[in-house]
Amino acid sequence: MNHLHLACVVGARPNFMKMAPLLSALKKYPHVRPTLIHTGQHYDAALSDVFFQELDMQRPDVSLEVGSGKHGEQTARILERMEAVLETGPSGGGRYDRIVVVGDVNSTLAAALAAAKLQIPVAHVEAGLRSFDRTMPEETNRILTDAISDALLVSEQAGVDNLRREGRSDDQIFLVGNVMIDTLRKMLPLARERDVLSQLHLQPGAYGFVTLHRPSNVDEPATLSRLIAVLRSCAERLPLVFPVHPRTRSKLAAFGLATDTGGSGGLRLVEPLGYLDCLALTSQAKVIVTDSGGLQEESTALGVPCLTLRENTERPVTVEQGTSRLIGSNPERLEAGLGEVLAGRYPAGRCPELWDGKAAERIAAVLANEQSASR
Ligand code: UD1
Repeated sequence: MNHLHLACVVGARPNFMKMAPLLSALKKYPHVRPTLIHTGQHYDAALSDVFFQELDMQRPDVSLEVGSGKHGEQTARILERMEAVLETGPSGGGRYDRIVVVGDVNSTLAAALAAAKLQIPVAHVEAGLRSFDRTMPEETNRILTDAISDALLVSEQAGVDNLRREGRSDDQIFLVGNVMIDTLRKMLPLARERDVLSQLHLQPGAYGFVTLHRPSNVDEPATLSRLIAVLRSCAERLPLVFPVHPRTRSKLAAFGLATDTGGSGGLRLVEPLGYLDCLALTSQAKVIVTDSGGLQEESTALGVPCLTLRENTERPVTVEQGTSRLIGSNPERLEAGLGEVLAGRYPAGRCPELWDGKAAERIAAVLANEQSASR
């Protein structure tokens, strides 16, 4: 049997729930041999290990342990270490036939670039998304990764439209749906068994769920303090639970801002959550307030209102069909959105096409058959 060796790359928290269903779907193809490579961009147990346990994901075959750093430093470290790993090839000898990268983090771009330079074909899962906002580091990662990928696996129609507009040919574009929603659908029953709500003294449907970590929202004292003030005022009407990303935690400390914890009301800052506790809380929330790309999609799949603290989104289907509304960091719009939610007037959304729990099967079919495709 001719084996097809895939180098499958993860690095940061939002990558794990995209790769887990894909690795599982690839098991259907005995000729496909995935090697899981973890760059180590995220290394804290709460941002990495817990996902491997909860998603029942194989441990990485290779760990690059790059850790944190400035963008250039981090990207360069991954590039250098990934090149060496790709040159070594899969265990047992031979050469990687393809690298598979997901999402838009620094690990995605750096790994894709290392492979492209070695003329290893690149498959990008979550290709084609564009915020058209070059101030976002992820936008640079998306554009460059797509430019050097030859299999573009897309989660929503806007991604296909963007790639066509950029001149990509249709035989490289595959509209496969949203693989992260595969994980959500599979894990929802387990998540509902968690007792995190009672631990936090929360009632289903009677609290809001907040996340905040984008540099544009947390890196400037004026922006972050305004957002915290608005959240605090909203929390007088609805308790808000806020798992704090390490980046945000250090900025809050540096700027001398919110440190509220405990109690059953107000703004509740908690440690970063594992996948299941996060899903338990998001799926039963009255409203989600976030700047995360993933949560815009998850809230849409769950049908929970999502007030998105961004001016733009690379995931327009979550606004056009789903439950997300872009409110920037505008306090009045946040208050107004929350008012609509509490009054039961917030519009219901619908779940986009192909966000059906079967995206990984479609991606695996594309990857597994590619050996015979002449590209
Ligand atoms: C990264 C992604 C972002 C994604 C987010 C999800 C890029 C450019 N950004 O942002 O798209 O939405 O992950 O979490 O790739 N840190 C820890 N522990 C860790 C990792 C990081 O404490 O395990 C701290 C470090 O102080 C580090 C900071 O968080 O400097 C930022 O980490 P980094 O990986 O650079 O970016 P994120 O903000 O996590």
